[in-house]
Amino acid sequence: MSGPELSKTIPETRERLQAVRNAGKSIGFVPTMGALHYGHARLIEAARSENDFVAVSIFVNPLQFGPNEDYSRYPRALAADIDLCRSRGADLVFTPSVDDMYPEKQLTFAEVGKVGDNLCGAFRPGHFRGVVTVVLKLLNIVQPDRAYFGEKDIQQLALIRRMARDLALPVRIAGVPTVREPDGLALSSRNRYLSPAERTAATVLYRALLRSRDLAQAGEAGASVIKKEALRVLESEPLGKVQYFDLVDENMQPVDRVTPGIRAAVAVWFGSTRLIDNMELVRIDKDSQ
Ligand code: PAF
Repeated sequence: MSGPELSKTIPETRERLQAVRNAGKSIGFVPTMGALHYGHARLIEAARSENDFVAVSIFVNPLQFGPNEDYSRYPRALAADIDLCRSRGADLVFTPSVDDMYPEKQLTFAEVGKVGDNLCGAFRPGHFRGVVTVVLKLLNIVQPDRAYFGEKDIQQLALIRRMARDLALPVRIAGVPTVREPDGLALSSRNRYLSPAERTAATVLYRALLRSRDLAQAGEAGASVIKKEALRVLESEPLGKVQYFDLVDENMQPVDRVTPGIRAAVAVWFGSTRLIDNMELVRIDKDSQ
């Protein structure tokens, strides 16, 4: 099978995608930071199934890392990433350098509102500003019909959806369900940092989320009751240090009561690795809407 076209610069990418649009083809776009895993494969497959042409970007975005975060050690695996893109039928892989994306000091940013205040936003100042700025820039370069993001990063997805609505971006933002290991751990590029003992312990996020969902589905509607029980599960794991556990609505605002669509969201440190996960507690019945 021949591989995807590779494109390194913004002008080259724009020119290629303009030709795709001129040919009347729809474009699906999967922005990534590389170190691709099966979760990304599912994003590419979703894009493949709904569009004529699929573009993937691989760019570790310095704007979204804080000064003491893992930008320099973030895993880079370009050859394996291109193989995965090929195996899922991507047509183009865009791999800009930092100098291509930020040729001069960036002065213009997309500001995030309250959707970015809680959960990860409360602990990673500037992170979501960096995320939405690079996503807006990538969307401007690629100009896709549809762009695909994982539900594992639920706050990021909520912010990007909100940005697309607030700024009337001509793109449909699609959320793709979280992919899990057989024992429930959500796939993440950062899982590879975990020691064997931490990897075993890391299933506690999933266990706490499942316990919360079970309680909610058994009729418990009080957020404080569910939080207390989830924290009990999380704190039973000595290798983990809980950063947050909360129940939030679609704008990532904390709630007191569980209603359909509410999600539990959690972040836990294992040594120097921070893992996040989330789960919808009671499904929105789409048929009754
Ligand atoms: O989810 C990610 O990998 C990144 O935050 C994204 C959306 C590619 C922006 O850099």
